Amino acid sequence: MNPKAVRPDPLPGRVPGPGERSWNFGPGPAYLPDEVVREAQEALWRFGETGMGVAEISHRDPLFLELVEGLEARVRRLLALPASHAVLFMAGGARPHFSLVPLNLSKPRRGRTAYALTGYWSRLARSDAAVLVQTEVAAEILEGDPVAIPDPARWNLREPVDYLYYTDNESIDGVEFGSPPVVGGLPLVADMTANLFSRPIPDPDVFDLIFAGAQKNLGITGLAIVMVRKEALAGSLEGWPRYLQYRDWIACRSMVNTPPTFNLYMADLMARWMEKEGGLAVLAARNRKKADLLYAAIDQSGGFYRNRVAPACRSRMNVPFRLADERRTPQFLEAARGAGLVQIAGHHSVGGCRASIYNAMPEAGVRQLCEFMREYQRTAG
Ligand SMILES: Cc1ncc(COP(=O)(O)O)c(C=O)c1O
Repeated sequence: MNPKAVRPDPLPGRVPGPGERSWNFGPGPAYLPDEVVREAQEALWRFGETGMGVAEISHRDPLFLELVEGLEARVRRLLALPASHAVLFMAGGARPHFSLVPLNLSKPRRGRTAYALTGYWSRLARSDAAVLVQTEVAAEILEGDPVAIPDPARWNLREPVDYLYYTDNESIDGVEFGSPPVVGGLPLVADMTANLFSRPIPDPDVFDLIFAGAQKNLGITGLAIVMVRKEALAGSLEGWPRYLQYRDWIACRSMVNTPPTFNLYMADLMARWMEKEGGLAVLAARNRKKADLLYAAIDQSGGFYRNRVAPACRSRMNVPFRLADERRTPQFLEAARGAGLVQIAGHHSVGGCRASIYNAMPEAGVRQLCEFMREYQRTAG
């Protein structure tokens, strides 16, 4: 029997068949390029000529050490990182650095720092840091309609501080800086978890430290990359555990203890993939186009879908949106799943919807989502 005789036409898109994958708009863990997943699948079984799987080989094996060196070199090339900055790979994801940054770049219990509060992650970073140092508020997001980042030229930075901390892309709020807030020559610290490698960094030298969890553009959860100006770590941290000191991590070349070897392997595959795709300028142009397509679908829906962020600071990576009739949201998400478009629910703290479109998401996936959204609206009555 023709199934169409009994079922209405599904909305655009389709449930992936056996062996196929959905378009995955998850915020992290996030979509990985198919070829990367395939290569990792093979390497889990057998890594090069070693006769071992990549998750089974010693982190001290010359082949593995070479891999980590190669990863660092690729990261340096991709970001044009100056030699003044060390590159660290640390287990535990991004959040530990909310505490490690004030510990290592300020003076525990005496230091003064400044935080720009532009969303969920910067607020959490500030509250973690406040246990260790004084944290001034340099700026707060303007919560109107639209939501906007206040002009850095007018930020409140009267007191001398050890660093100015900000979150380059707020993955829950969908707010992103167009360029780093270089103010008063202050050393910058940036959480770039949700947009590192999505575009070139114009001048990495303005940063004392950049950190990022790997789960968006550099592979899988549980690994963080830290790029820190070595000179900024001159202060003594006597009495604090060595494991918490970036200087020790630099001295041990990120091998203070057994590192998460599979995550490092995945990061290396992703860095190779980014180079193969043409580097960050190429990826940035693709990311701009994908974001423009999706925001256009929202803005041209006549209010059926809404994003409240001012266009100048809309995230190119995480696109949160709400349906005007919020009661429809569960049904919308279910229909999307049925069309092979998954992980579009908003963060549990805010609800609504959110599509994350990191480097690995092809334009075809975004076009499919836009088409689905238009068709859902048309058939929603
Ligand atoms: C901007 C930002 N900072 C920090 C985090 C926390 O990352 P983790 O869960 O690896 O600690 C996230 C997670 O999504 C994030 O998007």
